[in-house]
Amino acid sequence: MNSLQRIAIVGGCGHVGLPLGIVLAGKAGLQVDLLDIDPAKVGLVNSGAMPFMEHAADLLLRDVIGKSLKATLDPACLKAADAVITVVGTPVDRHLNPTVGDVYRSIDALLDHMQDGTLLVLRSTVYPGVTRLVHERLRKLNKHVLLAFCPERIAEGNAIEELIKLPQIVSAFDNEAMVAASQLFGRIAPTIIELTPPEAELAKLFTNAWRYANFAISNQFYVLAQSRGLDFYRIHDAVTREYPRMRSFAKAGFAAGPCLLKDTLQLAAFSQNNFFLGHAAMLINEGLPMFLVEQLRPHDLSNKRVAILGMAFKAESDDPRDSLSYKLKKLLEVEALEVLCSDPYVSDNSLVPLETAIRMADIVMVGAPHAVYRDLEIPGEKIVVDPWNFFPARELAPATA
Ligand SMILES: NC(=O)c1ccc[n+]([C@@H]2O[C@H](COP(=O)([O-])OP(=O)(O)OC[C@H]3O[C@@H](n4cnc5c(N)ncnc54)[C@H](O)[C@@H]3O)[C@@H](O)[C@H]2O)c1
Repeated sequence: MNSLQRIAIVGGCGHVGLPLGIVLAGKAGLQVDLLDIDPAKVGLVNSGAMPFMEHAADLLLRDVIGKSLKATLDPACLKAADAVITVVGTPVDRHLNPTVGDVYRSIDALLDHMQDGTLLVLRSTVYPGVTRLVHERLRKLNKHVLLAFCPERIAEGNAIEELIKLPQIVSAFDNEAMVAASQLFGRIAPTIIELTPPEAELAKLFTNAWRYANFAISNQFYVLAQSRGLDFYRIHDAVTREYPRMRSFAKAGFAAGPCLLKDTLQLAAFSQNNFFLGHAAMLINEGLPMFLVEQLRPHDLSNKRVAILGMAFKAESDDPRDSLSYKLKKLLEVEALEVLCSDPYVSDNSLVPLETAIRMADIVMVGAPHAVYRDLEIPGEKIVVDPWNFFPARELAPATA
């Protein structure tokens, strides 16, 4: 294939596509088209505004938009591309197995516009075996497209920094595609790691499932300690302080968002439900909101107002997708007199200002520990529930019968 100059990113205005487009159009000096189906996001991006929070992205976007970067609704941009990167999920059914017809339809929609010789990069997290299905589809259709699977491994919110710092896993079934994909990502990543596609598919799922299981260990230990009236964080501090082997012992808190649980479940489906660790992690992490509510039961929630601070799925984010704060909210709505939710970043008409939430609440719960809460003064008579230990001076209020 010719040298890479023009790239199209399908799903280009989302959390994975847009930071990648900004870096490819900036640092890598490529011409990038961001293809998306959402007219509002396309308009925003073309006006130089980020549709979501992403550290250090705003300035860089304004540098390149209208020059080397453009958002568009028109799939014609795929024709001119030397490489097409798709970040759109390759569909799986409700049991998390790929439905072959859906996989083929999502790829065929791209192939209709792509020229022979183009590099096609699958970048969203896929169910194991999907890259081979796509490869076989291309051969059946006699399409000479160079197929590669190069998973995204950034943490949302830190993409701009991580895209140029993290090694990039690159995989393909043939050398020509491997070389082309390595050339593309070699323009931004410091190291290229080559795997076969089945290895790369598992590498990505292992990464997320490992992280999810790691959080589950902390959440399980948190529940163990707190349910016996012991302070988890005194123990956490004792075992991590000057003890390098416990460096990866995470704090407790909500392990949520659009990727970790979904990808652990994909691995569970792939293992034909023999991924016991993954299932256990899901029960523990998804069970944490219930444990927190259970701990409060002796306070008689029926006459208490509860505030949840932070509705995003994690700190310093405006992304509420699969946030456990919303699960907590649902549970509390059954039990409590009123639930007041607040978040400085999430867009949701049901939220109330922080000051209102604090003033009205009898109980304050930390959902996402945004840094802006750091100096918050919570009057001493309020019960604070803080699984993150964000307000270390305040201990989890002991339940009084
Ligand atoms: N969010 C993360 O941090 C992250 C990290 C690694 C991998 N992933 C994987 O990346 C994939 C994308 O995640 P995301 O967070 O960017 O999602 P997102 O919802 O933020 O972005 C997806 C974008 O694709 C657009 N889109 C949907 N269908 C389209 C189509 N047919 N053609 C063109 N555009 C289309 C949407 O409008 C949206 O802008 C997921 O499969 C996820 O598993 C996400």
